[in-house]
Amino acid sequence: EKGGYKHFMLKEIYEQPKAIADTISGKLSIFEKKNEKILTNFDKIQIVACGTSFHAGLIGKFFIESISRIPVSVDYASEYRYRNPIIDKKTLIIAISQSGETADTLAAVRLARKKSAKVVAICNVIGSTITREADYTIYTHAGPEISVASTKAFTTQLAALFLFAVEVAKVRKTIDEETENKLLNELSEIPKKLKTFLDSENEKKLIRNIALEFYNSQDALYLGRFVNYPIALEGALKLKEISYIHAEGYPAGEMKHGPIALIDEKMPVVVIAPKDRVYEKIVSNIEEVKARKGKVIAVTNANCPEIKKLADFTIEIPTTEELLYPFLTVVPLQLFAYHIADFLGYDVDQPRNLAKSVTVE
Ligand code: M6R
Repeated sequence: EKGGYKHFMLKEIYEQPKAIADTISGKLSIFEKKNEKILTNFDKIQIVACGTSFHAGLIGKFFIESISRIPVSVDYASEYRYRNPIIDKKTLIIAISQSGETADTLAAVRLARKKSAKVVAICNVIGSTITREADYTIYTHAGPEISVASTKAFTTQLAALFLFAVEVAKVRKTIDEETENKLLNELSEIPKKLKTFLDSENEKKLIRNIALEFYNSQDALYLGRFVNYPIALEGALKLKEISYIHAEGYPAGEMKHGPIALIDEKMPVVVIAPKDRVYEKIVSNIEEVKARKGKVIAVTNANCPEIKKLADFTIEIPTTEELLYPFLTVVPLQLFAYHIADFLGYDVDQPRNLAKSVTVE
């Protein structure tokens, strides 16, 4: 059932182009006329989730705020439910959960509904508890995700959030038709671009070699800015959970405020640096890391000579519209964590102490 792959995680990483394409073409029927009220009847959004789904939520905030101009807060479900949050009829809750069974996310859904807010779930499992309790469900079409480390569920959650942002903007007329078409077009190009990256023998070899270089590290730092800041968190989570190497993700601008003290010649620093609005800023962050002799692994685009010159390793991803980079930047980080765990001989699909769905709080 692993289709020739050594682990489910690797298979699921490679399934992402198809999973994203299926989610995009699955059409969000939430936008049928009868549901339009769900989309117009709120003035703020609260996203609740745990783990990797929480990281998708952080990126969803960028999508929704920049495209639909509605304020979005994102919270861990386990924090949200115990802090007496401000919820009213004008709050839309988006609960993101691959399994639809996560105890804290479910509790947050129940709390919000009790306070008469509407709940939209983004979920991968048909008929799961969260989908039964939400007012509406947007399904991701990732197919079953077996590996405990979430990969294709994450990128399909991103696709659902992006479609949601565009649809809300359309209904509320915060974007014109031309922008809408441009955004949707760029999104529909993602599966192809990802496939090109995943099929490239050079990139495959390169990521394995980088993993070989660093699999004995004690710690790793992940840095990103703007929409790739949550990808730094996600990259660090992937490494921690399957390779048991301590890793932290940070917004690159926060480095000077503490984490820079950790950097020495042994420290791998993964920097997510595509050519976007913060490119120049992140180049300076790389200079700061190199000045302390840290080892830089950069995820960037071709034709970024500044980064090529500075970094110890550069992984090149295709170009896209700047909001969509997380779809492409997360994949080399998934592969990097995978190869490290595999080199260390760990049970990649069933890491210690973890369960696929956390049904107790
Ligand atoms: O099923 P859910 O999306 O609600 O699960 C949330 C987290 O437990 C999950 O994303 C977890 O963090 C993964 N093991 C991360 O790879």
